[in-house]
Amino acid sequence: MSSSPKILLTGATGYVGGTVLHRLMSSSAPSVQNLKVSVLVRGEERADQLVRTYGEDRVAPVLFRDYDETELIEQLASQHDIVINAGSGFHPASAEAMVQGLSQRTQATNTNTSSTRPWMLHTSGCSNVSDRPITGEAFPNRELHDADGTAVYDFEKSENEREWYPQRAAELAVLGHPAVTDSDSEDASGVGALSIQAPCIFGEGEGLFQRAGLMVPIMMRYVVEKGYGFQLGDGTGVIDYVHVADLADLYVRCVRDILETRAQNLPSGARGIVFPTAGRVYMKDIAQGCLDAAFAAGVLPRGGDGVMTPLRKYIMQVDLQEAATTTAGNLVVAEVGWSGHRATKGTVARTQLGWNPVHGEEAWQQDFVDELRHVVAGQRTVTIDSCIAEKEMLPVRDEVVAGVGGSTAVHV
Ligand SMILES: NC(=O)c1ccc[n+]([C@@H]2O[C@H](COP(=O)([O-])OP(=O)(O)OC[C@H]3O[C@@H](n4cnc5c(N)ncnc54)[C@H](OP(=O)(O)O)[C@@H]3O)[C@@H](O)[C@H]2O)c1
Repeated sequence: MSSSPKILLTGATGYVGGTVLHRLMSSSAPSVQNLKVSVLVRGEERADQLVRTYGEDRVAPVLFRDYDETELIEQLASQHDIVINAGSGFHPASAEAMVQGLSQRTQATNTNTSSTRPWMLHTSGCSNVSDRPITGEAFPNRELHDADGTAVYDFEKSENEREWYPQRAAELAVLGHPAVTDSDSEDASGVGALSIQAPCIFGEGEGLFQRAGLMVPIMMRYVVEKGYGFQLGDGTGVIDYVHVADLADLYVRCVRDILETRAQNLPSGARGIVFPTAGRVYMKDIAQGCLDAAFAAGVLPRGGDGVMTPLRKYIMQVDLQEAATTTAGNLVVAEVGWSGHRATKGTVARTQLGWNPVHGEEAWQQDFVDELRHVVAGQRTVTIDSCIAEKEMLPVRDEVVAGVGGSTAVHV
């Protein structure tokens, strides 16, 4: 690794990537405090804004059209020591191109040892390990544990053979890439690769652009618009959660581990799936939390246009089609997202990297209050299409929820 490590970050305009960039830029740890980060972004204006905010000595934007530009992405990755893929985790080809690019770096120098090997820090999500309770079989008691990373990897591999799912395919393409080697294998050459497989992420992001999470803001907007919440499946759907700031801190810890200890504490390859979790919640309790906040604040019940919303807190049992109105029409994402069982027990980040999330149950509950305020103020127009890499660069459409009682022309 060069004396001044070269880092490439994707997703700097997004919720996760924007927060990771912010935390990297504001870290006072000597190993990262002067790092310059290349950021792959769409839109000249946003690139300029990143430079104005962080300084041209800290960020170097590279403009691109989209993740389908895999040649450009591979070439760019080959010029960096660490790639942090914190944009959409749903694009296997670009993720693979990043590892491929890093592997060219190892071949070019041909002097690769564990001290110099390049690293890929990938971002993924726990829907990779979800069951399919509506259209397939339900496994309400299944829990995966990242301490047994190989078992998680093998499970995902067999799941993907049964049914291909882009986010899972991207994670497997990264960790299973022929150029990637395990940290403790005798052959410590090759690319190191780890995937941070996030659960439900909550809290206000710290990036410059997309600062909203997904699950709570989307359910909150549904609740405020309709006057009731929704439930898909039998109510046992479950997910863990993590605050976006704690999550971003984990990325910084990983970068520091690479720079400070030669990645001694980072699992790689088939053992490289890390679950960053701080608490667990039933999906029906997300709807309940939104209703509780809306009724406590007097936002619900609501009358208007001669239509009164339910007088009591009410959770409607919905079908897949209705749930998919919140997931850009994507039925698979709706099913795993709103009804899936994906309990992920995460201990690796704590035991190996000293990660200690500071936002727990109290912050999670407070998030309902905060998100209600944002929705009522019309600040939560977040949709899922960018997260699942299906958003095109179109002019922003007029799809804002104009506060309480406003238009219901919601895009998701
Ligand atoms: N948010 C969550 O609750 C959550 C939970 C678990 C896992 N995750 C994982 O984290 C990933 C990132 O989530 P997020 O919430 O940060 O998403 P986000 O806020 O929607 O950000 C997505 C980022 O990826 C970029 N992007 C998306 N599609 C692209 C394309 N086709 N070409 C080029 N760039 C593209 C976006 O760029 P533009 O700004 O130019 O569109 C943006 O920078 C997810 O995909 C998922 O794998 C998220």
